[in-house]
Amino acid sequence: MKIKLEKLKQEFLDNLEKTTDANTLRELELRYLSRKGELSQILGGLKDLSLDVRKEIGEMANAIKKELQSRFDVARSTIENDASEDIFDPTLPGLDLEKGSLHPITLVQREIEDFFSSLGFMILDGPELESEFYNFEALNVPPHHPARDMQDTFYVKNQNEDKASDLTMRTQTSNTQVRAMRKYGAPLRAIMPGRVFRCEATDARHEHTFYQLEGMMIGKNINFAHMKSILEMVGKKLYGPETKLRMRPKFYPFVEPGSNGEYTCFLCHGQGCRVCKYSGWLEILGCGLIHPNVMRAGGIDPEVYSGFAFGFGLNRLVMLKYNIDDIRLFNSGDLRFLKQF
Ligand code: DAH
Repeated sequence: MKIKLEKLKQEFLDNLEKTTDANTLRELELRYLSRKGELSQILGGLKDLSLDVRKEIGEMANAIKKELQSRFDVARSTIENDASEDIFDPTLPGLDLEKGSLHPITLVQREIEDFFSSLGFMILDGPELESEFYNFEALNVPPHHPARDMQDTFYVKNQNEDKASDLTMRTQTSNTQVRAMRKYGAPLRAIMPGRVFRCEATDARHEHTFYQLEGMMIGKNINFAHMKSILEMVGKKLYGPETKLRMRPKFYPFVEPGSNGEYTCFLCHGQGCRVCKYSGWLEILGCGLIHPNVMRAGGIDPEVYSGFAFGFGLNRLVMLKYNIDDIRLFNSGDLRFLKQF
C-alpha cells in the first residue's frame, strides 16, 4: 500500500512537471485528485485493513494528498497567469463596434450648407441664449409690439456678457442677422443654421425646441428676383428639378415686403395629397427684403445697400423629406427612430 502511494505521488509529480496547458492540467486533476481519482480509490481501500495499519497508511495518504494538492495549486496559478499574458490573438476577428449615424436634421442641414457654400455663402453660428435686443428689437420688433405674441419664449433672469439683463432663449435664428451685419458689414452672404426655442404646448406638430436655417444676402442692387431664384434653386436641390416655388405676401416685422415660400409637394408633384393637405404646396420658409430699420441696426446704410433674408423651418423640411409624422421624435433620443438614418 505504501509503495503504491509513493508510486502514485511520483507519477503525479512527473506528469505535473510536464504540464504546460490548462487542458492537461484539468485531466491530471480528474485522474489523480478528484473524488473518483486514483488517490481516493486507494483511500477507499483502507477500510479492509487492520486498525493500526489503517491509521498509519491513512496518515501517510492524507499527507500525500495535501502535498499533491498544494503542488497542483501552484502549477495551476502559474499556467493561468501565463495564459492571461498571452491573451492577444491577432487571428481572432475584431470586436464589432456599434456605429452611430448622423441625426436626420444634421443630414439635411449639411445638404443645404453644401449648396449655399457652393454659392459663396458663409456658414455662421449664433448664441442660443440671446438678448432681447438681437432677438426682437434689432429686428424691428419694439418691446411692446404685438408681433412679440407670435413667438412666446423663455425669459432668463441672469445678465449676459454684454451686461444685458434681458436674456431670452432665442425664438428664431433671425437673431444672427444683425450680429452678422455688425461683424462683417456689407456686402454679405451667409447662412445661419441653429436651434431655437418657443414656449409651446407640445404635440405632433409643435415642439419647444426645434431647428431653423436662416440666410441673407446683402449688396448693391440686390432685389426680390435674386431672392426668388436662389430659393427656387434650394427647392430643386432638395426635392428634385421639377420643384416650383410659390410666394405669397406675409407679415414679418424685419422684412418689407415679406413673403412665405411654398414648394410644390414632392410627393404628389402638385396634384394634392395627404402630405400637402390637398393643396399641392408645402409651406417651408419665410422671407423678404430686409427692412431698412434692420439694416440700420446692423450699421449698414439702407440707401446704399439692399438685401434679402429667409428662414427655413428645418424640422419641417426633414419631416417632409423622410415622411416623419411626429416632431417630438427629433429630440426623443429614441434609437429605434435614429437608427433608420
Ligand atoms: N424668423 C421667422 C420665424 O421664425 C422666419 C423668417 C421669416 C426669417 C422671414 C426671415 C425672414 O429671415 O426674412 O417665423
